[in-house]
Amino acid sequence: MTAGERTIVIGASGQVGSSLLAQLGASGVGVSRNEADFSNRVDLVRALDVLGPVQAVINAAAYNNVDGAESERGEAFLINADLPGWLAEWSAARAVPFVHYSTEYVFPDGNGVAWREGDSPAPLNVYGESKLAGERAVQRVNGDSIVIRTSWLYGTSKSNFVRRVLELAALGKPLTMVGDQVGSPTDAADLARATLALLQREDREEVMGNQLLHLAGGGSVNRAEFSRAIIDAGVHAGVIPHAIPVTETTTSEYVAAARRPTNCVLDCSIARALGIELAPWQESLTRVVQEMRA
Ligand SMILES: NC(=O)c1ccc[n+]([C@@H]2O[C@H](COP(=O)([O-])OP(=O)(O)OC[C@H]3O[C@@H](n4cnc5c(N)ncnc54)[C@H](OP(=O)(O)O)[C@@H]3O)[C@@H](O)[C@H]2O)c1
Repeated sequence: MTAGERTIVIGASGQVGSSLLAQLGASGVGVSRNEADFSNRVDLVRALDVLGPVQAVINAAAYNNVDGAESERGEAFLINADLPGWLAEWSAARAVPFVHYSTEYVFPDGNGVAWREGDSPAPLNVYGESKLAGERAVQRVNGDSIVIRTSWLYGTSKSNFVRRVLELAALGKPLTMVGDQVGSPTDAADLARATLALLQREDREEVMGNQLLHLAGGGSVNRAEFSRAIIDAGVHAGVIPHAIPVTETTTSEYVAAARRPTNCVLDCSIARALGIELAPWQESLTRVVQEMRA
């Protein structure tokens, strides 16, 4: 790294974006929608061009409202498909490495086997379609880039599934959660740490090189069991006073604008073979809930 070079993080206020910036310290510079209109290429490029020497660009911005995307297709595609393509082009033109995140929602229900990078995507909802279009926009540029697919993100910083379960549990009302959606909960700080470690590797160019990589928390769990684990962790950490029951329902009974896949588990064996592995989800959950208390 040349002195003064910084890593640009797009989506500075998000769960992964804020974790990246916290870990980067003075070597990171965040760009949020206050600094640039992410749906306007000219505005975006103008904001990036004034940032000085750049070491890497990481896009952590996304339109993540899965149900909202069904009625806001244009906005979802602008942020999830056009924006990563523009960023990939900007980075490639300056020979700067580019990291983009995608999702397990590019896959359908499947047959219960964890999804591998080579499996054919077939999204069930508009959010998944827009994220798949974003992957392809980045890959079309064919630069020094990597698309990291992750799943079920949570962290201390923002409203997310873990926080919502704790807030509802604090009200003492019994919860109903789907028992047939299985995924790998992923701590945003763990993912940020692994991303930055990847960018620091001596063999980075070989590992990146327009690749697709699955990276999520270790192990898997269904939503109802995950909710019970969140509640247990919350009681143990003193975040909520006592446990509440969680009743199970099914995806077909759950009413929502967007269809959701039941199998959200990503096979992370390629990352593991490269020495990139996130902590087991139970370990990260315990730590994050304790940090929430603090
Ligand atoms: N969350 C998950 O469960 C999950 C699962 C799999 C993959 N992913 C992927 O992982 C990456 C990081 O996700 P995350 O959970 O850290 O995201 P997040 O917390 O939802 O943050 C998204 C960022 O994008 C910005 N943003 C959202 N809508 C925007 C819009 N219409 N115009 C401009 N900026 C907008 C947000 O700005 P404001 O804060 O100002 O709204 C925020 O900075 C994303 O690529 C996401 O698709 C997420």
